[in-house]
Amino acid sequence: MTEAPPALAADGPKSQGGLDVSAHRSLEEVLVLDFGGQYSQLIARRIRECGVFAELLPSTTSIDAIRERAPKGLVLSGGPASVYEEGAPAFPTELLDLDVPLLGICYGMQAMVQALGGRVEAAEAGEFGRTDLTLRDGGGGLLGGLPEEQHCWMSHRDAVFEPPPGFAALASSPGSPVAACEDPERGLYGIQFHPEVVHTPYGTEILTHFLRDVAACERQWSPHSVIAEQVERIRAQVGSGRAICGLSGGVDSSVAALLVHRAIGEQLTCVFVDHGLMRLNEAEQVVAAFERFGIPLVHVEAEERFLARLAGVEEPERKRKIIGEEFIRVFEEEAAKLEDAACLVQGTLYSDVIESGGSDEAATIKSHHNVGGLPEDLRLELVEPLRMLFKDEVRAVGAELGLPERMVWRQPFPGPGLAIRIVGGEVTRERLDLLRGADAILQEEIRAADLYHQLWQSFCVLPVVRSVGVQGDGRTYAYPIVIRAVTSDDAMTADWARLPYDLLEKVSNRIINEIADVNRVALDISSKPPATIEWE
Ligand code: XMP
Repeated sequence: MTEAPPALAADGPKSQGGLDVSAHRSLEEVLVLDFGGQYSQLIARRIRECGVFAELLPSTTSIDAIRERAPKGLVLSGGPASVYEEGAPAFPTELLDLDVPLLGICYGMQAMVQALGGRVEAAEAGEFGRTDLTLRDGGGGLLGGLPEEQHCWMSHRDAVFEPPPGFAALASSPGSPVAACEDPERGLYGIQFHPEVVHTPYGTEILTHFLRDVAACERQWSPHSVIAEQVERIRAQVGSGRAICGLSGGVDSSVAALLVHRAIGEQLTCVFVDHGLMRLNEAEQVVAAFERFGIPLVHVEAEERFLARLAGVEEPERKRKIIGEEFIRVFEEEAAKLEDAACLVQGTLYSDVIESGGSDEAATIKSHHNVGGLPEDLRLELVEPLRMLFKDEVRAVGAELGLPERMVWRQPFPGPGLAIRIVGGEVTRERLDLLRGADAILQEEIRAADLYHQLWQSFCVLPVVRSVGVQGDGRTYAYPIVIRAVTSDDAMTADWARLPYDLLEKVSNRIINEIADVNRVALDISSKPPATIEWE
């Protein structure tokens, strides 16, 4: 590489809690102060689904930082603590000076109620799960217009027995004498239950009442507005320099590349390292999609190189390491050819930012990133246009930008690809072709059965063992194929998918009939934990 500016982390936009505070200044926003609740991220997602940008910040965020953001509303999340426990996070009373409407949820409500002179105590029994809710006096401004009797989702042990002076009680449940309350004069609202989970059927209505009727938010947040906002920001960041983007074929890097291309056109070059470990036709699909958009793409056909390095290697971690290293080597070689590249585009998502504690860590190149860990001494400034987006928003932006449906909804696929699905043996082209063929049949049938979107992942595994079978009049000695299909929300846990028997039968028949050297199909019925999703 020739001279390039230092990485973004050193002198990039100033962060607050690690998040780029200037990211969406032209849009109205609601801040969610996180007290450590299980559903805090979900609150931000639901608010965004209501068309309002929401960002999660630690409950300890300074009042000045919040004031500077000029939010239209504040939401205090739930959390695991008890308000009267020593060391429990306190309600930041300075928030009242901001004169911004505030909604406390679960712990957020209890902390507010206690700080303002109401009564919060341990209830005889906690409420967990689906709970009956009864409105009082029509439900006030927050719950008004909703059914008098409804269900909601609760998760608490303490309860509010009396609201603070000036507040009206709006609803109760068997274990919560005050399950919701409000003081419209001061713009303060609280609900004991969780409007953000789908098991609270009127949750979205309640959030909408708060956002639209109380906080007077307009519906400004949409894929369209994200694109407009990001295009401006990318132009400002990249200026007249060149940017490169490593494509993996996954949705994140593809959408990031499309967005940057929309902003700076031919100043962007994408590098697609085809390691020969992709699924059937996936490399072609990536290349075709990017050609259609007229995005300059360096397609590096590196199958030979990768297979040569993988020859004789059986141990999973060695495979991963070799693939990661080789990827970097190829990418660096290509990047070096683009002499004046100053920026590197990455598809970092908001969940990555939150998971890394919202710290600046996420602004450094992530070693587990899809396209392989890129070395820091590439000395490129990072461009991360998806840094504020949840995965479903990335998909919506991708669809709005015209990314083909197949790519928008692609299931996660590991960076080392099919290499870690050939288990207990060497990765060879013959085995890859066999696995690719079987996998293509599985994908085709799962799509035909309209199940593709319901599964987190579905794929075939090739254990390198042989077993006896009989085909035609002859004995066979051939490989098995294992079908792995799981449901999951985040890959941290997963369950094996109950695929219909008819579908399994069809897939099994087709694989055995159409793929030479396979005489047996098995189904993996393990959940994670104790198994993992992949076999290596
Ligand atoms: P496991 O197998 O740990 O997988 O349950 C969890 C998720 O991570 C993906 N995965 C990988 N992704 N490189 C990747 O980019 C890898 O080495 C790798 N290993 C697992 C896996 O497909 C699942 O989505």
